[in-house]
Amino acid sequence: MASIEMYGGKPLCGEIEIQGSKNAALPILAATILIDGITILHNCPKILDIFYMVKILESLGCSVLWEGHRIQVDARPCKKICVPEEYAGKMRSSVIFLGPLLAKKKEAFLPYPGGCVIGTRPIDLHMKALSSMNIFFKEEGPWIHAKGEPILGGNIVLDFPSVGATENIVLASVLANGITRLENAAMEPEITELCCFLTKAGAKIQGIGTSVLEIQGVKELKGVEHTIEADRIVAGTYLFAALGTRGQVLLQNAPVGQMRATLEIAQKMGALLCEKDGDLFVDGKNAWERLPYIKTEIYPGFPTDLQSPLLSVLSVAKGNSIVEETIFESRFKVVEELRRLGASMEIEGRQVIIHGKERLNGCCLKAQELRGGAALVIAGLIAKGKTRIIQTQYIKRGYEDICRDLKALGANIFYS
Ligand code: EPZ
Repeated sequence: MASIEMYGGKPLCGEIEIQGSKNAALPILAATILIDGITILHNCPKILDIFYMVKILESLGCSVLWEGHRIQVDARPCKKICVPEEYAGKMRSSVIFLGPLLAKKKEAFLPYPGGCVIGTRPIDLHMKALSSMNIFFKEEGPWIHAKGEPILGGNIVLDFPSVGATENIVLASVLANGITRLENAAMEPEITELCCFLTKAGAKIQGIGTSVLEIQGVKELKGVEHTIEADRIVAGTYLFAALGTRGQVLLQNAPVGQMRATLEIAQKMGALLCEKDGDLFVDGKNAWERLPYIKTEIYPGFPTDLQSPLLSVLSVAKGNSIVEETIFESRFKVVEELRRLGASMEIEGRQVIIHGKERLNGCCLKAQELRGGAALVIAGLIAKGKTRIIQTQYIKRGYEDICRDLKALGANIFYS
C-alpha cells in the first residue's frame, strides 16, 4: 500500500509548474472516439485516471501512443462498444464514454459507475437527458446497455447543471441528426475546453461558456491537435498548501482566470496574491484569517474539489469558520482524519464548523479519496513533527507527483 511521510511546520518556498487538467483531459480523451483521424493532445497529466482512460480506449480498439505529456489517438480502428469493467470500475469518469460511443457506434455497453466515499453519484441526469435524443437504455444487472438509431438532436433542460451529464450530452450531439438545445448546462472551464476542442475538429456549437448550448450535428469530425489547459484544482491545492504553511510560492502557468472564487477566498484569509505573465505568486505570511461562512457552488463559485484542502487551512485559522458543501452529499470524510492531528471541527448536516487551533501535531492518517488525500498532505505540512499518510494511491489519481512538487517548494516529504 502506498504511503507518504513528511515533517511539517516549515513554510513552503519556491516555484512549480502546474500540470495539465485531469478533468479537462478525461472528456477530451473520450471525445477522440468521435474523430475520423489522428488526435494529438499535449500537456496531458501523467496520472492514474488518464492511464485508465487510455486502457479503455485501447480495449475499444483505438491505437494510442502515450509519450510523456503527449497522447496521440487514432480511433478509426475502434470497433468495440463495451467499456471493460476492469478499468471502468476504478474510475467514475468511465461514464463519459456513453456519449461518444452512442454518437459514433449508436450503441454502448458499460458497467454502472460505482459511487465513492463523496457520494452515491448516480447517472440519472445523464440517462434522462440522452433519452430525449432517441436513445434507449436497458439495465442488465450491473451493466447499462444504451442504443439509439439514429441519434436525434433534442431539447434538454437539466434539472441540475451536472458536469458529466453536460459532457455526455455534448458528446452525443455533435454527430447527431439535427440540433440539440441544452439548457441549464454546467459552465465549468472543462466544459468550455471540451467544446473548444470539438469545434477545432469541426463541431458546430453555439453558446460555449454559457448555460445554454446549441449543437448542430455534423457528418464527421477531423483530426485535431490540442494542448490541455492547466489544472485549476491542482493549482488551488498548492495555493492552500502555501497558505497553510505561511509560505511564499510561485505557481507557474496557474489558470488564474478559472480560479477567481478561490483567489477571493485566499485573499479573505490574508494571502497576498500577484498575477504576472500567466503565473501566480502567493504570499501566505499573514494568512490564517478565519472565514465566517463559505459554501461550495457550481462554477464560477468556490469549487467543491477544493473544500477539503480549505478545511486543512481553516483548522489553524484564528477563530471559527463555517464551510457548507452543496454539491456532494458526503464530502466530509477528511474531518475524522484532521481531528487525529488535533483539529477541532464538527459536522452539522451539510456544514462543518471549524474552531481554529494554534497548532496541529503530526500523526498517522489514512487517505480515503483523491481530494481528501491531498487535504491530508496539506495538513501534514502544517502540523509540527512527523505525519504518515497511508492509502495515498488515491492521490495519484489526480496529482502527477505531489511529493515531487512539494519537495520543489522545500517540503520535507517523501514516499515511504
Ligand atoms: C465532475 O464530476 C468532476 N469530475 C468532479 O471532480 C467534480 O467534483 C464535479 O464534477 C463537480 O464539479 C470530473 O470532471 C472527472 P456532477 P461529476 O455530475 O461529473 C449529482 C475530482 O476530484 N448527480 O456535476 O460526477 C452528483 O451525485 C472530481 O476531480 C446526480 O444526482 O459531477 C453530485 O452530487 C471529484 N445525477 C452532483 O450532481 C447525475 O446523473 C454533481 O455531480 C449526475 C450527477
